Amino acid sequence: MSDYTLQPIGDRHLTDIERIEQTVHIAPWSKTQLAPAQGCFDHHYALISQDDQIIGYFYARCIAGEAELLNLAVDRPFQGKGVAHQLLTLLKKTLVAAGAKTLWLEVRQSNYGARALYQKQGFELISHRAGYYSCPDGTTEDALVMRYQISSSHVL
Ligand SMILES: CC(C)(COP(=O)(O)OP(=O)(O)OC[C@H]1O[C@@H](n2cnc3c(N)ncnc32)[C@H](O)[C@@H]1OP(=O)(O)O)[C@@H](O)C(=O)NCCC(=O)NCCS
Repeated sequence: MSDYTLQPIGDRHLTDIERIEQTVHIAPWSKTQLAPAQGCFDHHYALISQDDQIIGYFYARCIAGEAELLNLAVDRPFQGKGVAHQLLTLLKKTLVAAGAKTLWLEVRQSNYGARALYQKQGFELISHRAGYYSCPDGTTEDALVMRYQISSSHVL
């Protein structure tokens, strides 16, 4: 992982991020959803790149000590190499600096890879939201609500 670079996300990255969104997510964000997330004072976001190629990124927000992971993705050819682990480690450090106490997220019940990642990262299952997500076949699926306690953790 030593030749990977972590950096802030800028407007020039939106086209590449939108492409990754379309290849990895069931409900990808468009540029019009990505751009505002980068303009808010309470949002935190970063990407990881290799040889100027974006390979993963996160978007989160933190309000009054409560943080929420809004988006996390790793481009397919780079999955399974520890990129998300690095991104979440950076996010946790960023949120410590921002004064966050807890980090929340929602994940599709069927997203076993992401669930395994979050469990390994110390998130605990808090609740289910029935029918929260739309599926491509017109059905819905539950969201799992997970929480990470930043204040009691050793992030570094
Ligand atoms: C989920 C996702 C972010 C994981 O990224 P990644 O870079 O491949 O994850 P890492 O390589 O850092 O994995 C870290 C740990 O998470 C777990 N994990 C990650 N992907 C996994 C998978 N597909 N199956 C099982 N465990 C998985 C493993 O425990 C892994 O540790 P290990 O390799 O030592 O066993 C990536 O697959 C992705 O972008 N998926 C599509 C978008 C998405 O689902 N985002 C999350 C929405 S809530």
